[in-house]
Amino acid sequence: MARTGLLVWSYCLILASVNVVHVLSSTVLPGIGVNWGTMASNTLPRNIVVNMLKDNGISKVKLFDSDSPTLKALAGTGIEVMVGIPNNQMYIVAGDIEDAEDWVKENVTAYLHNGGVDIKYVAVGNEPFLSSYNNTYDNITFPALQNVQKALDKAGVGDKIKATVALNADVYESLSDKPSGGDFRKDIKGIMIQIIKFLHQNKAPFVVNIYPFLSLYQNAGFPFDYAFFDGGKTISDKNVSYSNVFDANYDTLVWTLKKNGVGDLKIIIGEVGWPTDGNFNANNKLAKKFYDGLLKKLVAKKGTPLRPGLLELYLFSLIDENQKSIAPGHFERHWGLFYYDGKPKFPIDLSGKGNDKMLIAAKGVQYMSPRWCVLNEENKNLSMIADEISYACSLADCTSLGYGSSCSKMDSDGNVSYAFNMYFQMQDQGDYACNFNGLAMIVKKNASRGSCLFPLQLVGAGERLGLAYGVSIIAGLMLAFFSLM
Ligand SMILES: *[C@@H]1O[C@H](CO)[C@@H](O)[C@H](O)[C@H]1NC(C)=O
Ligand SMILES: *[C@@H]1O[C@H](CO)[C@@H](O)[C@H](O)[C@H]1NC(C)=O
Ligand SMILES: *[C@@H]1O[C@H](CO)[C@@H](O)[C@H](O)[C@H]1NC(C)=O
Ligand SMILES: *[C@@H]1O[C@H](CO)[C@@H](O)[C@H](O)[C@H]1NC(C)=O
Ligand SMILES: *[C@@H]1O[C@H](CO)[C@@H](O)[C@H](O)[C@H]1NC(C)=O
Ligand SMILES: *[C@@H]1O[C@H](CO)[C@@H](O)[C@H](O)[C@H]1NC(C)=O
Ligand SMILES: *[C@@H]1O[C@H](CO)[C@@H](O)[C@H](O)[C@H]1NC(C)=O
Repeated sequence: MARTGLLVWSYCLILASVNVVHVLSSTVLPGIGVNWGTMASNTLPRNIVVNMLKDNGISKVKLFDSDSPTLKALAGTGIEVMVGIPNNQMYIVAGDIEDAEDWVKENVTAYLHNGGVDIKYVAVGNEPFLSSYNNTYDNITFPALQNVQKALDKAGVGDKIKATVALNADVYESLSDKPSGGDFRKDIKGIMIQIIKFLHQNKAPFVVNIYPFLSLYQNAGFPFDYAFFDGGKTISDKNVSYSNVFDANYDTLVWTLKKNGVGDLKIIIGEVGWPTDGNFNANNKLAKKFYDGLLKKLVAKKGTPLRPGLLELYLFSLIDENQKSIAPGHFERHWGLFYYDGKPKFPIDLSGKGNDKMLIAAKGVQYMSPRWCVLNEENKNLSMIADEISYACSLADCTSLGYGSSCSKMDSDGNVSYAFNMYFQMQDQGDYACNFNGLAMIVKKNASRGSCLFPLQLVGAGERLGLAYGVSIIAGLMLAFFSLM
C-alpha cells in the first residue's frame, strides 16, 4: 500500500531496550514475514512490538524506512529485516555514489555487528511506479537501486544483503486478461527491463505486492470466490487452470519476467493480506477466510502453477495504522493482524496446520485514562452537529462509520459520539478536544456500543519520555548533590 500519511507524525524516541538473544519458536512457516508500518497517531512502543513478534514466533519483518530506534529494538533478536528507503528519500542515494555509501554506512552496516540486526534486504522506494504517482519517481528509482547495491558491494556485504525495489503489481498487466498475456506497463517498460536485468545480475529478488482484496474492491463484476483460495471460478490459460486471482496475478509476473529475458528471477511477495474494516468486504471473517486459504497453500508448498514450491511473503500487515491516507479507500487503515493496541483480531495458525487460535497480544500496553468524549444529549443542536462532525472526521479516523463497517449500525447520536471520541483520543484526550461548541462531554463509562469499539488512546511517547526525563532529572540532581558532598 502507498505510504502517504494524512498527518505529519513524529518519530517517537524510545530508550534503547536491552535485548536478550531469544530462541525463536519455530511455529511460523519459514516463508512468512510481516510488514511493520507506523503511520498511527500513537504507536505501540517498539520494544513491545518486538516482544510481540517474538512471542508469536515471527522471524521476518519488512520495514518502510530505516528508523534507528526500530532497528535498535530489533537488535539481537535474530529477526530478519528488510529495511526501506521511502520514495521521497530516494534522492539521497540516487545522485552521488558516495552519498549512497554514507547511507549504507549509517543505515545498514552500523547494525551488522555481533548482537546487531540481521538485515537481509534494502527496499529502495515503495511502489514508486504506482500509476497515481504520475511517473514522479521514474527517473530516480533505478539510479537509487544501482547506487545502493554498489555501496553494499563496496562495504563487503553485497553477497548477503540485496537491494531491490518494492513494487506494486500494477507495474505489469495482461493484454489478454490471462497470465500468458503478461508484460510490463507500457509507460515504464524500459525502466522495468533495466531493473530486472540489474536484479538478476545481482541475484536480488523481485519484490511485488499482490492484493486480491483490491481486485474485488475495484471491479464491480469481480467473481467473489476468485479473490480467495477455496475454489470457485476457474480460468484456463494454455495448459494451466487458475482458481484464484493470487495465482493468476503471480503467474502474470512470471510470464512477464520470462518474456523480458529473466524467467528465473526470484520473486518475493512484499505485501499480501486482507483488511478488516472500512468496507463491506473488509471484516474479520473474510480476512480469516483469505489467510486460512493462503496458509493452507503455503504449508502444502504448492506455489503457483508456473512456480510450484515454497512461496516467500510478507503479510500486510502487523498493526492497524490510523493515519494512513484513505485515498485508496477507508479500509486502508485496517490491514493489521492486530488492532492499533496490539490485540489480535481473529484466530489464525501461522504454521499452516489449521490449529487456529488467537495470536499472542502485545504485553505491557499502556492506555490513557478511561475517558470518552460523547455527544451531550442535553445540548444537541442539530443544525451545528454536521459541521462539528466533519471537523472531527477531517482530523481523526472515522473510517469505521461507513457503510458495511464495524460502526455502521449505530443511530445518528452514536455516529456523532464516535466522531467526537475519535478526535478526542487522537488529540491525546486534551480537555480542549472535547468541546465542539458545547455539544460534547467527557464520560467515564465505556462508550463502546455493540461491535463498535470506542478506542482509548495509547500512552504516547511524549508521556513516556516525560516520565523518563523526570526520573533522570531526579537522578541528575541526586548525582549533583552527592558530588557536592
Ligand atoms: C539514514 O537514513 C535516514 C532515515 O531514512 C536518513 O534521514 C539519513 O539521511 C540516512 N543517512 C545517510 C548518511 O544518508
Ligand atoms: C496525478 O495527476 C492527477 C491528474 O492530473 C492529479 O489529480 C493528481 O493529484 C496527480 N498526483 C500526483 C501524486 O501528482
Ligand atoms: C525523466 O528523464 C527524461 C529524459 O531525461 C525526461 O524527458 C523526463 O521529463 C524526466 N521525467 C521526470 C519525471 O523527471
Ligand atoms: C504446460 O506445457 C508446457 C509445454 O507445452 C510445459 O513446459 C509446462 O511445464 C506445462 N505446464 C504445466 C503447469 O503443466
Ligand atoms: C443552534 O445553532 C444555531 C447556529 O449556531 C443557532 O442559530 C441556534 O440558535 C442554536 N439553537 C439552539 C436551540 O441552541
Ligand atoms: C449515521 O447514522 C445514520 C443513521 O441515523 C446513518 O444513516 C449514517 O449513514 C450514519 N453514518 C454517518 C457517517 O453519518
Ligand atoms: C469497552 O468496551 C469494549 C466492548 O465491550 C471492550 O472491547 C473494551 O475493551 C472496553 N474498554 C475498556 C477500556 O474497558
